[in-house]
Amino acid sequence: MKFGQVSKRIHRKIHSPLLHYNFICYNTGMIFIDRVTKKFGNKKVLDSVSFNVEGGEFVCITGHSGAGKTTLIHAIIGAEKINAGNIFMDDFEVNKLKGEHLQAYRRKIGIVFQDYKLLAQKTVFENVAFSLEVSGYPKDFVQKRVTEILKLTGLEELRNSFPREISGGEKQRVAIARALVHAPQLLIADEPTGNLDPENALALAELLLKINKSGTTILLSTHNKDVVARVKKRVITLKEGKIISDK
Ligand SMILES: Nc1ncnc2c1ncn2[C@@H]1O[C@H](COP(=O)(O)OP(=O)(O)OP(=O)(O)O)[C@@H](O)[C@H]1O
Ligand SMILES: [Mg+2]
Repeated sequence: MKFGQVSKRIHRKIHSPLLHYNFICYNTGMIFIDRVTKKFGNKKVLDSVSFNVEGGEFVCITGHSGAGKTTLIHAIIGAEKINAGNIFMDDFEVNKLKGEHLQAYRRKIGIVFQDYKLLAQKTVFENVAFSLEVSGYPKDFVQKRVTEILKLTGLEELRNSFPREISGGEKQRVAIARALVHAPQLLIADEPTGNLDPENALALAELLLKINKSGTTILLSTHNKDVVARVKKRVITLKEGKIISDK
């Protein structure tokens, strides 16, 4: 079996008015968001949000500051508990996951944030290799896999540089490379271009498109209109915790 390829096919029945069929869930990075509500105190930050993302799709989530984009992403990655509704990603019932099951789920998705969260004392190569090493993969495999990912993200020449020696755009590419190293079926990025200049933001959009072309589902939260225009994919707009458009 090739790395990252999963042959298991899972049949499950989901009890929900939206998903009342017996569906065959391949490991493709599909997301089902079913009437998700999240409150902070009395304030509904997500108000019965429902949408599906097909495996291999590229979806932009947009909306003004405070619309609920980060809260939604935190809910999808299992970092924020929801008050009502269901979230499924492939065969994971995300809102029910705890402990080691939550960790296993997190390893199946690639996550990228606005602030790159790189390890300052490690080189580009070491930053990307780190989670594979922690997972106990053999050295030659790590070498091969990281080299492959650095090539894909255009970072080969910077493999021995430290984060302080590279630009913001390059740092974000390292963060993407790191997110891809476990070959996730789903890559989730929350405002990844937030700290980048327009040119680097568009270059990042191109990189995400390239990753999507290889079959990875992408969920991108951004309020950068130029990025949304460059990507030219489905756009879900949130306003005050509700979906106001999906096209
Ligand atoms: N931990 C928290 N406690 C209380 N309120 C919160 C918390 N996190 C977020 N909020 C509130 O929830 C709302 C949605 O926040 P969220 O961060 O999801 O917005 P966003 O769409 O990501 O905005 P931005 O574009 O600025 O990143 C905001 O009103 C915010 O103040
Ligand atoms: Mg946000």
